[in-house]
Formats: sequence, structure tokens, C-alpha cells
Amino acid sequence: MGKLQQITLYIVLFGFISPCSAFSLQNCTISTPLRDIQPKVLCYKMGFFRIPWWIPRNTQILDISFNAFAQIQIGDFRHLSNLQDLNISNNRISQIQEGALDDLSNLTYLNLASNRLKAVSSGMLHGLSNLLVLRLDDNNIKDIEESAFSTLQNLKVLNLTKNHLHYIDKVKPVLASPLLEELYIGSNSFDVFNSYEMSTKPLSLKKLDFSNNPLATFQLTDNIFPSLNHLDLSYCGQNGSMTWNVTEKTYFSSVQTLYFMDVNMSPQSVANVLPSFKNSLNKIRFNGNVELNKTNLLLSACFPMLRVVRLNANKIKHLTDNMFDPCFDLTELDLGQNEISKLSQSMFRGFTQLKKLLLQINKLTQITNSFQILSTLEFIDFSRNSINKLTCDDFANLTQVKTLYLYGNKISLIRSCLFKDLKSLEVLKLGTNDLLRIDDAFSNGPHSLKDLQINYNKLSKIEKYTFRNLSQLNSLTLNDNQISEIEAQAFEGLKNLTSLFLSSNKITAKTLTRYPNVFSGMPNLQNLDLYANSISFADNKLKHPPFKDLNQLRVLTLHSQRRGIDKIPSNLLQGLSSMEMFYVGNTNLGHLNPDTFKFSPQLWFLDLSKNALSEDNSIPAELFHPISGLTKLILSRTQLRSLNFLLNANLSRLSTLKAPGNEIDTINKTLIQSLPRLEVLDLQKNTFTCDCHNEFFIEWAMKTNSTQVFYFNRYTCSYPRSLRGMSLTAFNIESCTLNIDFICFLCSSIMVTLTLLLSFVWHFLRYQVIYAYYLFLAYLYDSKKKQTVSTIRYDAFISYNTEDEPWVMEELIPKLEGEQSWRLCLHHRDFEPGRPIIDNIIDGIYSSRKTICLITRNYLKSNWCSSEVQVASYRLFDEQKDVLILVFLEDIPAHQLSPHHRMRKLVKKRTYLRWPKPGEDTKIFWQKLKMALETREGHNPESSIL
Ligand SMILES: *[C@@H]1O[C@H](CO)[C@@H](O)[C@H](O)[C@H]1NC(C)=O
Ligand SMILES: *[C@@H]1O[C@H](CO)[C@@H](O)[C@H](O)[C@H]1NC(C)=O
Ligand SMILES: *[C@@H]1O[C@H](CO)[C@@H](O)[C@H](O)[C@H]1NC(C)=O
Ligand SMILES: *[C@@H]1O[C@H](CO)[C@@H](O)[C@H](O)[C@H]1NC(C)=O
Ligand SMILES: *[C@@H]1O[C@H](CO)[C@@H](O)[C@H](O)[C@H]1NC(C)=O
Repeated sequence: MGKLQQITLYIVLFGFISPCSAFSLQNCTISTPLRDIQPKVLCYKMGFFRIPWWIPRNTQILDISFNAFAQIQIGDFRHLSNLQDLNISNNRISQIQEGALDDLSNLTYLNLASNRLKAVSSGMLHGLSNLLVLRLDDNNIKDIEESAFSTLQNLKVLNLTKNHLHYIDKVKPVLASPLLEELYIGSNSFDVFNSYEMSTKPLSLKKLDFSNNPLATFQLTDNIFPSLNHLDLSYCGQNGSMTWNVTEKTYFSSVQTLYFMDVNMSPQSVANVLPSFKNSLNKIRFNGNVELNKTNLLLSACFPMLRVVRLNANKIKHLTDNMFDPCFDLTELDLGQNEISKLSQSMFRGFTQLKKLLLQINKLTQITNSFQILSTLEFIDFSRNSINKLTCDDFANLTQVKTLYLYGNKISLIRSCLFKDLKSLEVLKLGTNDLLRIDDAFSNGPHSLKDLQINYNKLSKIEKYTFRNLSQLNSLTLNDNQISEIEAQAFEGLKNLTSLFLSSNKITAKTLTRYPNVFSGMPNLQNLDLYANSISFADNKLKHPPFKDLNQLRVLTLHSQRRGIDKIPSNLLQGLSSMEMFYVGNTNLGHLNPDTFKFSPQLWFLDLSKNALSEDNSIPAELFHPISGLTKLILSRTQLRSLNFLLNANLSRLSTLKAPGNEIDTINKTLIQSLPRLEVLDLQKNTFTCDCHNEFFIEWAMKTNSTQVFYFNRYTCSYPRSLRGMSLTAFNIESCTLNIDFICFLCSSIMVTLTLLLSFVWHFLRYQVIYAYYLFLAYLYDSKKKQTVSTIRYDAFISYNTEDEPWVMEELIPKLEGEQSWRLCLHHRDFEPGRPIIDNIIDGIYSSRKTICLITRNYLKSNWCSSEVQVASYRLFDEQKDVLILVFLEDIPAHQLSPHHRMRKLVKKRTYLRWPKPGEDTKIFWQKLKMALETREGHNPESSIL
């Protein structure tokens, strides 16, 4: 997948989930537990059209069948190089790019069945060097390219069933896999099999399925199947004939199992085929194609090695006395699905080692004592006949029989004499008959019985001591009867019983509690099924808790009571100290007593689904206190509005919580934190509120890598109404964090910007700023002055640096004050002590007609002086009065003025006076100065001054 596409998908599908940490996969689930080393990802039936890129890298088993893939491209599996087992069947794949599977070098099982591949091209399977099993069945494959299988050096099983292969030489390329053992090429269009078209050298094949091809010719001319063990030729042949030409009798010498059902051949030809297998055949399966009483087929089929014959569905009606004569060495004879209605004793006469006799689905009405002579029998299947009567001698002599199937008949009575010789019987299936009672049927055993099934009959009552002599019994199946009464000690003696199935009967609370010891005598019972009965309690406490003797019970199912169990009495589970799993769903429970589980501290699985637990205190937190080891809790469709009862439940070991189909709207942080071991959370189909109360949950569900939130992408908002139907993942949780964080962000941004701006301004516009400051002061002062009509007290304010004071004292004052008698304002002489200096300056400037600045390098360095300049220049602009006289006492080149931005501007714009260099005449200077002092407001001294 291209990077760009990945990113786009990432945005479209996930918003802000990070692919690797997210554990709650879109539409996929991880079926094996979290810490399992073989993560198994299930993504079937989800409408995917590409391999989702976010499947965890360490995935080893991936089922992505039943989706909508049309092709597989290079890179699709780049991130899944750990895959060992890939099921991508039932898609619409018609193309696999060459090299697309290159990344899957660890793959051992690949299922591409039920797609639309037309050919197996040469590079398509490239790279699958560890593949053991490849399923390409049910495609449209017509062609297999020459080198298609060249890299599959380890392939053992190849399924090409149900394709469009026509010529056997098309199968040849698959033989490039040198270890191929099982080849399924049934249901194609082969009409000729010539072994030389496939190979002339011995192959490693052990199993070859050729069934359902319209073969007209089967010709084997080389020993290419020396290891073949299993050959299936069922439903082959065309137009009633198949030419069979196996040139050496030894070619099939290792075939042990032959399926030869309904091959379109005359019985005579079949009889000619069979000798090819004479040496080794152990098992044969025919049907349809043989009319046993017309041919000596069995005679030709029953070779010395043959042990198993299956003659299912042959429409056999009559078994004749001598028909099995050639087959006396059989160990298994399957005559199922025929029309046999009668058995005769003499028929089985010759069998010496028959162990298994299958007569299921026939038309027998009675057993008639026909096979007493078969003392070797171990397994008899009479199921699904019409047997309605059993006599005491029916199973006489059958001391070896371990398994007897009598289910699906019309038996209405069983008498104890029936079992008199069945000393080894372990499994007895009597289900689906017409038994109304058992009475004393088992009063004498069979003592060795382990599994007894009497389900789907019409029993209504279990009497005291009915099973007393079945002390070996492990499993007793009594479901689907009409049992409404169980007498005290009914199960007495079942010392080894581990499972008792009593579901779908008419058992009521009364049945269980009428006597104090209904379930006594089964000290080892582990599973008790009581679901789908009519158990319903009204009392809060029982006088005779029914399970008190079952201290080994592990699993109790009480779910789906017909009228609802209504309530669980507080001591119902008394005695169940080993109980681990409890199913009590669909029982109309509205409230649970907090003491319910106080007797069952081992409980780790609890299913309460489909009840009506909508009230706030329906499930009290205390309920869970005695069962702190609970790991799985199922609460599907229980009308729950909140899971807050879990907050104080202390379920620190809960790993699976399923509560889909409820009315839960909010999951908060505390709840999640109270379940530290949670691995699977299923909250599909709840009525979530899309607001900031779920902020934590949404973010957690998308990011957690310890909990898998099942199908989180399907959770939708139910509130607020404006967001109804929107995916929970689409809710913008960032809008929740906005409040505080955003304000902080805003403040700090503003601060940063301001700081930047200020430093910028300070750096580049420092003088403008300072000037502005003084300008401001000057403005203030100016407006003040305007109000308090000021008086001009001086002719000139002299602005100078202290360093230049000698010149002022020695040259300037004598000349201007002495000779020309101007009144001058000098700060060292005329400033009012105690006033702020700037006030003095401003005052001085505004009470003088002119300001004379004596400019030297020192002057420029001094802030005081430049502020004087600025104040004065403000007055210049503001009042449009020409107040400023610049006097340069030393030569200052323009570039040295440049930092003194304001000064430079003035110098550039205006003319100024220059103090003559030593030795030059000072007369002109004083003259010019005098003129400058004399000029009135509004009059520019022009360049003449210079
Ligand atoms: C997830 O599955 C649902 C229902 O099958 C489907 O509507 C949706 O498009 C799927 N989403 C993705 C990303 O495949
Ligand atoms: C294949 O599996 C082995 C371990 O089974 C592992 O070490 C190796 O990295 C895997 N190869 C690839 C390409 O994932
Ligand atoms: C081979 O494919 C057929 C047809 O899809 C299927 O029924 C059969 O179970 C497959 N057998 C194996 C071993 O994969
Ligand atoms: C069987 O095949 C061989 C080799 O092709 C041929 O020589 C022989 O005539 C064939 N036999 C029959 C009965 O078709
Ligand atoms: C073969 O069975 C049919 C009934 O299916 C019967 O009519 C016929 O007599 C039998 N033939 C032989 C030779 O037993």
C-alpha cells in the first residue's frame, strides 16, 4: 500500500488512532488472549476489499474470508511476514500479482478457496517456500503455468477440487513440489486419465481424490503411485462406462482405502476393476453402483486384506444367507442407509472377527436375535430404524459390545433382562424413542455403563434408586423429556457421574425443593444442566437448598426458564463450593441478592444476559465481593443503564466484560481504572452519549493496547440528538480538552508574540520608542503650558554636556551674557534643586525663546542632552517655532551621528553652526549665533547661517 494511501486511510478510518498501539481493531477481533504467543485475528464477513494495514505485525493466524477482495497486490502482506495461517477464501479474487505473496515466507497454510482465479500463473505463489497446505478449490482454474509451483518445495497438501481443469497434463506443474502427499482434483472436467501425461516416474502421492470427474478412461501404464494409500474414484465415469486399463497388477499395491461409490460402470466392469487392488485393500466403500444380489461383486471385492466394507445407500433390501461368505475376515461392515427390514441368523454365521456392525437408517422393526453368534462385536448401530420391541434375548451373548446405538426408533419399553449379557457395555444411546418410564430397566446394570442417553423421550418421573447400579456412569442425558418429578435419592449410587443433563423438561422449583435430597448420591457431579425448565422462585430463602450435596459441581446452567426464575433465593447455591461457571441468563431476573454468591467463592464465569436489570440497584456491588476471582462477566441485553456498580465490586481479575445491547451511555475513567486486568470489552449497541463525559473512554478505547474493545468503530452516539447515529470514534474529543489547555495555549502564545514584538521593536526602533516617550512627556507639558500661559524668562536654554562646561563658562557665557547681554538658562546654575531633572529641562526649554544645543561626542552619549534635543524638536514641530540652534563644537562625521537617529534627521534638514577649529577666527561664529538668537518665531535662518 502506498504511503499516501496509507495516510489517507489512516485519516479516513481512524482519525487519530496510532496503528500499532491500537488494539481494538476495526471490524476485526483478536480471538486468542492478549498474551498469547500466537495472535489470531478474525476479520471474516466485513466487506474488506484490501488487507487492512493495521493488522498487528505479529499476527500469525489471519482469517479474512468472506470479504470483497478482487485482487492481491504487491505489498499487501508486507507488514504480515509472521503469518503462518492465512484464510482468504470466499472473496472475489481473480488476480494475484506476481510476487504479492513473497513476504509470506513463514506461511504454512494458505486457503484461497472459493475465489475467482482463472489460472495459477508462474509468479503468483512465489516465495511460499514453507507452505504445507494450499487450498485452491472452488475457483475457475483452467490453467496452471509451468513453473507455478517451483518455489513450493515443502507443499504436502494441494486442493484443486471444483475447478475447470480439463486435461491431466495441466496438473503436471504441481508435481514440482517434490513432497506432495495429498492431491485433490475432484469435481473438475477430466475425461481421460493417462498416467504418462502426468508423469512416468514414481510420485510421492499418498492420497489422490479424483471423484466427480466424467472419466471415460482410466489408464495407468507406469508405476507412478508407489506410495498411494487412499484413492477416491467415486462418482466417476461417463455414460455407464469407464475404461479401466491398469497394465500391472502391482501398481496399486499400496492402496488401502478405495472409495468407489456410484461409479458409472456395469457391475461386471466393477468386478474387473477390483482385482487391481487385491493385494492391500483394507477398506472399500461402494454404493449405488452395485446390485449386490445380482453379482458376485463381494466375492471379487473381499480380498484377504479387506477389513472394512461400506455399502451405504445401495438400496439393499434383502441380505441373503451366503452373500458375505467371501468376507468373513471383515472387522467392520457398514450397511447403513439401505432398505433392510429383516435379519437372519445364518447370514452372519461365518464372521470371525467382526467388531463393528452398522445398520443405521434401515427398516428394521425388531432385532430378532440374529447375531448372537457374533461374539466379537464391539459396536452396533441400530439407530434410525423402526424398532419398537426389544426382547430379553436380542443382545444375548454379546459380551464384548461396548457401544450400542438404539436412538431414533420406536422403543417404548426397556426391561432389565435386555442387558443381561452386555457386560462390557459402556455407551448406550436410547434417545428419540417412545419411552414413558424407565422403571427398573437398569436395576441390574449394565455395571460398566459410562454414558447413558435417554434424551427426547417421554419420561415424566425419575424414581428413587433408578440408577443405583450404574456406579461407573459418567454422563447421564435426560434432556428433552417431560420430567416434572424427581424423587428423593433418584440419582443415588451415581458415584462417578460427572455430567447430568436435565434441560428442557418440566422441572419446577417444587421438583427441586420438595425433598431435601433430590441431587444426593452424586458426589462427583461437575456439570448440571437445568436450563429451559420451569424453575421459578418466590421465596428469598429456601428450606431445602437443592444443590447442597454437589460440592464438586463446576458448571451450573439455569438459563432460559420458561416463566422466568424471577429471583435467586439467597441460599439457592448453598453447597456449590466448587462452582466455577454459572449461566442464569434469560430468566426474568430483576434484582440480585447480594448474598447470592457467598457459597461459591470459586466462580470465575457469570452469565446474566437477557434479564431485566434496569433498576439502579439491580446488581449490587456487594454481589461480587465473595467472588473476587471473577474473570468473565456477560451482561448482554440486560437493560443496564450504567456499569457503575462495578466501581465498588473489586473485580481486579476481570478480563472479559461483555455488555452489548444495553442502555449504557457513559463509561468514565474511574470505571476503566477499576478493572485493571480487562482484556476484552464488548459494549456494542449501547446508547452512548457523545459528550465530554466519554472523552476518556473514547480516547482510551482507541489507544489502549491492553484491552480489546470489540468493534469499537461500530459504536454510535444516541445523544445528543443532533449527533445521533454518528460513530463514537468521530466525536471530537479535542473539543473537550480545549477549555483549559486552549486558554493556556492562547495566553502563552500572546506572551511569546508580545515578547518577540517588544524585543524586535527595542532592537530596531529603540530611538523611536524613547523619542515617543519624551514626545509624550513634552506633549503633556506643552498642553500644561498652554493652559498656564507661560512667561519667557530666558533668551536661550543652553543644552550641553558637563564635559563641555569649561567652554560654556569661558567662551559662551562671557560672549553672550557679557557682550551681547542675552539671558541664558544653564542647568547647573538655573535649575531648581529638588525638582525632577526632566521637569527642569522641559521648564527650561519652554521658558526660553531658543534652545542652543552644544554638540560634541560626549553630548551625543548623554541621554539627558538628547532628551533636551527631542523636547525642543517637539516644540519646534508642535508650535511651528524655530527654537533649536545646533552648535557643533567638534567635527562629527555623519556616520557617527547615525545611531542618533533624531539628531541626524535634524542635521540633515536644518542648517547648523560650527565652532571654528583652533586658530580660525571666531568672529563670524559669534555673529551667526547672534543672528540666530535674534530671529523671531516662524522665521527660518536658512542656509545663510552656515
Ligand atoms: C465494518 O463492518 C461494517 C459492517 O459489516 C461495515 O459497514 C463497515 O464498512 C466496515 N468497515 C470497514 C472499515 O471495513
Ligand atoms: C519466521 O518464523 C521464525 C520463527 O518461527 C522467525 O524467527 C522469523 O523471523 C520468521 N520470519 C519472518 C520473515 O517473519
Ligand atoms: C477440498 O476442497 C473441497 C471442495 O471445496 C472441500 O469440500 C474439501 O473439504 C477440501 N479438502 C481439503 C483437505 O482441503
Ligand atoms: C492399456 O494400455 C496399454 C498401453 O497404452 C495398451 O498397450 C493396451 O492395449 C491397453 N489395454 C486396453 C485393454 O486398452
Ligand atoms: C435380488 O433382489 C431382488 C429384490 O430387490 C429380488 O426380486 C431378486 O429375486 C433377487 N435376486 C436374487 C438372485 O436373489
